[in-house]
Amino acid sequence: MPDIYTEKALSGLAMDISKKLHGHENIYLSGDLGAGKTTFTKYLLANLGVQSTVKSPSYQLIDFHRFGENKQIAHVDLYRLNDLNDIASLGLDDILSDEQIIAIIEWPERAEHLLPAPHYHFHFTHRTPTTRKIQIEENND
Ligand SMILES: Nc1ncnc2c1ncn2[C@@H]1O[C@H](COP(=O)(O)OP(=O)(O)OP(=O)(O)O)[C@@H](O)[C@H]1O
Ligand SMILES: [Mg+2]
Repeated sequence: MPDIYTEKALSGLAMDISKKLHGHENIYLSGDLGAGKTTFTKYLLANLGVQSTVKSPSYQLIDFHRFGENKQIAHVDLYRLNDLNDIASLGLDDILSDEQIIAIIEWPERAEHLLPAPHYHFHFTHRTPTTRKIQIEENND
């Protein structure tokens, strides 16, 4: 796979990844502000059949989106996590262990040592205004 993506190529990547998901994955998205984490999430969720609007989770840090029979996406953005103790009140442990939930976590490094290893970890880096470098770590255990 190439590692430099236009936004159009990114939507193609999201389609490829969506086909590999079974419905209980942890996906971590790292990269600077504006690197494309939420944009990727929008394309991925559209490919999974999510109908609800995907935006940056702000106040609650987590947005839930339903799809399929009885599945959910938990879209988490830890950028504004101030206190690691707040992680407990987010209920992330329950979310990550729920077989019906795919967790997508932006800014996972905010809670680095408290999160389990992900199935996919995408690293986004700015290249030009319209391109991003994306490195993909995949753990098939
Ligand atoms: N090749 C590209 N890949 C992804 N996004 C791109 C690309 N080219 C331009 N963009 C634009 O860059 C912006 C990326 O914003 P986005 O909200 O996805 O970033 P983010 O990584 O989620 O940032 P934050 O850390 O603030 O949540 C969007 O406006 C998107 O349209
Ligand atoms: Mg974002």
